[in-house]
Amino acid sequence: MTVDTIKIELGDRSYEIGIGAGNLDGIGALCKKLGLSGTAAVVSNTTVAPLYFQRVEASLQAAGFRTLLVSLPDGESYKNSATLNLIYDALVDASLDRGSFIVALGGGVIGDMAGFAAASYLRGIPFVQVPTTLLSQVDSSVGGKTGINHPRGKNLIGAFYQPRAVLIDVATLDTLPEREFRAGLGEIVKYGAVLDRDFFSFLEDNAKLLLARDRDSLIHAVSRSCAIKGYVVEQDEREGGLRAVLNYGHTLGHAVETLTGYTNYLHGEAVAIGMVQAARISQQYGFCSQEDHDRIVSLIVSLGLPTELPPFPAQAYAEALSHDKKVRQSGLLFICNNGIGGHRMERIKDLTALLEICGIGE
Ligand code: NAD
Ligand code: GLY
Repeated sequence: MTVDTIKIELGDRSYEIGIGAGNLDGIGALCKKLGLSGTAAVVSNTTVAPLYFQRVEASLQAAGFRTLLVSLPDGESYKNSATLNLIYDALVDASLDRGSFIVALGGGVIGDMAGFAAASYLRGIPFVQVPTTLLSQVDSSVGGKTGINHPRGKNLIGAFYQPRAVLIDVATLDTLPEREFRAGLGEIVKYGAVLDRDFFSFLEDNAKLLLARDRDSLIHAVSRSCAIKGYVVEQDEREGGLRAVLNYGHTLGHAVETLTGYTNYLHGEAVAIGMVQAARISQQYGFCSQEDHDRIVSLIVSLGLPTELPPFPAQAYAEALSHDKKVRQSGLLFICNNGIGGHRMERIKDLTALLEICGIGE
């Protein structure tokens, strides 16, 4: 049942996020309500489709849609143009026209790829996000960033393309591996740390319940995260300003992922390490107290997430940071927390000094 609905106001691209437990069976009725028609191409992968496709198919068919399953290989390493072509091939083989639509059933990899296929197939067909990882429920399914990786960089090819709706069933998280679940909690901490002090306190008070996947706590955490992200996207859909705040913890997190070849850490784990360092830098710059810093670190530790930067030379970190998309002539755009629940965007030119604060010297 859907227990909470969040509206993302983007003019004629507005949409609703429905959050509940067991509401997956409502996908057919939702698509009908949206006025969608024809064939629903469900893009999923070899892990998620065996778990949830049958229910999605039954619901879509009961609502009068034809269905087509496009099951892709599982993993970030398949988020590329070859796999994207598999989606196009399936849509062309089934002669899907503009009267059809895509349902993205899976985590962020599937959501990003299926969303980009929807943005580009026949110059755009509608799509609905059905995210099944915690990270995709609180972050990637909301806000319209879609795309694939290029051999030379992550998410280099893509489009801003908003879904027609997002259906979130937290019961699908029951089958999510523990490590993936915790990594998703890392992205949730971000919203509290830089955008909502009360939500941060909620996370502190309910860390144990969240780790136990308590339904009510999860629904609240997912709803609040979607509402905060929605607010940011409404202000700045194309990341010209405020949306960059969502990169809190990501600057050093991405450096960690790059240096470790995307194999040692899940994205949310690298972001957790990045948030600990961002809190340390914010405290050193005088933007937050030692107590605020300690609270951020304690919450991340209590959620079972890593905090330490892996040991690489300062030069390697500086090199990785200088490739960050956000580096301009004026310096690296670094998101600091301003107390807890607030933020400051700083341009940093002296990367050596920044790394020294993090304990990374020459
Ligand atoms: P993922 O999609 O790779 O999913 C993680 C693993 O969990 C996969 O093996 C998947 O098959 C499996 N899985 C998914 N749902 C499951 C379920 N309910 N039960 C059991 N297993 C399940 O990873 P992710 O963390 O969801 O997403 C990461 C991707 O999201 C990255 O490619 C990243 O670039 C992207 N991303 C996009 C945005 C955006 O705004 N578009 C934001 C953040 C991240
Ligand atoms: N995940 C960051 C963004 O959507 O902007």
